[in-house]
Amino acid sequence: MSDVQDESVLRLVGLRKSYGVGTPVETEVLHGIDLTLGRRDFAALVGPSGSGKSTLLNLIGLLDRPTSGELYLLGRPTRDLDDAARTALRASAIGFVFQFHHLIEGFTALENVLMPLMLARGRPDAATVAWARELLESVGLGGFADRRPGELSGGQQQRVAVARALVTRPALLLADEPTGNLDTRSAQGVFELFRRFNAELGCAVLLVTHDPRLAEACDRTISLVDGRIVSDSPNRRLVSPRSP
Ligand SMILES: Nc1ncnc2c1ncn2[C@@H]1O[C@H](COP(=O)(O)OP(=O)(O)OP(=O)(O)O)[C@@H](O)[C@H]1O
Ligand SMILES: [Mg+2]
Repeated sequence: MSDVQDESVLRLVGLRKSYGVGTPVETEVLHGIDLTLGRRDFAALVGPSGSGKSTLLNLIGLLDRPTSGELYLLGRPTRDLDDAARTALRASAIGFVFQFHHLIEGFTALENVLMPLMLARGRPDAATVAWARELLESVGLGGFADRRPGELSGGQQQRVAVARALVTRPALLLADEPTGNLDTRSAQGVFELFRRFNAELGCAVLLVTHDPRLAEACDRTISLVDGRIVSDSPNRRLVSPRSP
């Protein structure tokens, strides 16, 4: 057995996905995706509506299974993992931010942020609660820990969702149009959070966006058209990013 450490956070090899397998409407929507993300990558995934971006993100997030091909997460092949192992790997390695925040209404902002850890480990200890508070602080919501989602603006709710996605210190943050539902200023704020956590926590980021300016602000742009990657290249910068 090889002991070589895989330096990628994610590696896709010949990944295919069909919907409606075994029915008359079986359709392949991803036609053999090869892609590698490094441990600190900050990449945009762009492409026309229906090109397969969300399908791909759901595969990477282990929310759905490919029809064929292999997906390595942190160097581990995932094809033969059972559902329990996939859930455990997802919970420990991946943070997910969706277009709509999916916060739980009956719980406070702090409880929502703690939720992924409580699901994995049960009642949080003091250090865990302190970390969740620190995350809320760092998304600018230190004073809102006890508010329920209904008492927060859309942008604030999305920032809670970002804190929740990061509470497990994931190696990979996946975001499917996380700012699609926000005004420009809130969108910028959420994007800057991703930038900061990429730099400070060292999590790789893969961000689906329809906003060309956000895509350009990433380090790399991956373009999907009709279920195939048609380009994947570093973004040229006119102004170099501020050093940390
Ligand atoms: N559950 C499903 N069953 C059948 N077909 C599906 C399903 N989900 C998506 N599709 C189809 O797969 C293709 C890719 O869809 P997907 O949602 O991945 O596109 P997308 O790039 O995320 O689009 P958008 O930018 O509009 O969000 C589309 O043709 C879509 O109709
Ligand atoms: Mg989509």
